Amino acid sequence: MKTQVAIIGGGPAGLLLCRKLMRLGISAVILERHSREHVTSRIRAGVLEAGTVRQLHDAGVAQRLEKEGLEHSGVCLSDGRSAFRVNFRKLAGKPVTVYGQTEITRDLYDALDNDGADIRHRCPVVEINNTDTTRPNLRYLANGRQHVINCDFVVACDGYHGVGRKFLPEHRKRDFEHCFPYGWLGILSETPPIHGELIYSRSKHGFALASMRSDQLSRYYIQVAAYEKPENWSDEDFWTEFRRRLPPADAERLQTGPSIEKSVAVLRAFVCRTLRHGRLFLCGDAGHIVPPTGAKGLNLAASDVHYAYNALSDYYLNGNTDAIEAYSGLALGRVWLAMRFSWWMTNMLHPEPEQSSFANQLQEAEFDQLRKLRSMQKVFARNYTGLPY
Ligand code: APR
Ligand code: PHB
Repeated sequence: MKTQVAIIGGGPAGLLLCRKLMRLGISAVILERHSREHVTSRIRAGVLEAGTVRQLHDAGVAQRLEKEGLEHSGVCLSDGRSAFRVNFRKLAGKPVTVYGQTEITRDLYDALDNDGADIRHRCPVVEINNTDTTRPNLRYLANGRQHVINCDFVVACDGYHGVGRKFLPEHRKRDFEHCFPYGWLGILSETPPIHGELIYSRSKHGFALASMRSDQLSRYYIQVAAYEKPENWSDEDFWTEFRRRLPPADAERLQTGPSIEKSVAVLRAFVCRTLRHGRLFLCGDAGHIVPPTGAKGLNLAASDVHYAYNALSDYYLNGNTDAIEAYSGLALGRVWLAMRFSWWMTNMLHPEPEQSSFANQLQEAEFDQLRKLRSMQKVFARNYTGLPY
């Protein structure tokens, strides 16, 4: 079988790239390891930068986002006793939009169904070959049998645990990695969120985040030991710990209810040295993982897709390969800026286990600077709402 662009992974990156390519008449096929139900049932963050919203509009998949997305003009930060707000509109001139990644994935699948897209589920890719030539190919399994797809380009949008990175030549790989000594225990509950905007709380008991999916669906997190297990936490235990990490006024408003989802996220930072070798591209989590504090994961997947799409469309429409050569440097430039912000925010808001009192004082000083300095809040607002592409 032959296609122009073979995409590995049916998550947000793979789906959005496929949609954009098909709208330009470039043929693409998506190989997805799991079933569609599995992919569309994953609970993931959805704080969208303005650039991501624009991407989704341009791809013609923002109809539901326009109706159901919640525009947030700021975010609250607290030390567990009191809170202050960073005003995005005043300091960065734009909002963020809260709209679950699960919904984005569903919207993309619906649009691709209308396009008659070739998306093959339960088809794990096991091999990528000849990426140094103009005729790469990939091998995937379907019903236990191997199949080959010949193509012009392979774009691995297959996430952190995918195969794409494995087929970069060793001399081109040098991974950068940092693992945080704590994780996030998150729950989803059909309760009204305690506040109309997100609250990041750095209490003496540990970090907590109050987020949401809608005005009737709350998404809450507390910092826990690295590799903690969700089954070690009853709902009651979670609510007690979550409540004591919030400013009193917000703790008062907290409405609890049964968790409909409970999971632990490991906090890691990872960047692959290059996001392209020959005709093999990496996009999204396949090439980098940011700690979730800055809500950058999905937004970086969107900007990678923007750069990869521009490179591929320039090649097919104009025979120009400059943007292909520039892809990795461009995408990684934005990744590292988002990584810096997410790393800084994570370190400021999370007391480390056995942290020295000196380190604690430094965190408090950093937090107080942010509370008092408009210039620092302006830098925060520009990064959180999304730096330019
Ligand atoms: N063959 C086919 N599909 C694969 C393979 C493989 N060998 N390995 C992984 N996949 C699929 C996974 O099943 C998953 O559906 O690739 C997809 C990768 O999707 P994501 O992990 O969602 O990554 P991405 O599309 O880059 O989106 C990044 O998702 O994980 C969140 O926080 C992250 O919000 C960010 C967003
Ligand atoms: C979420 O709503 O899941 C969420 C929001 C903001 C973050 C991380 C996760 O920084």
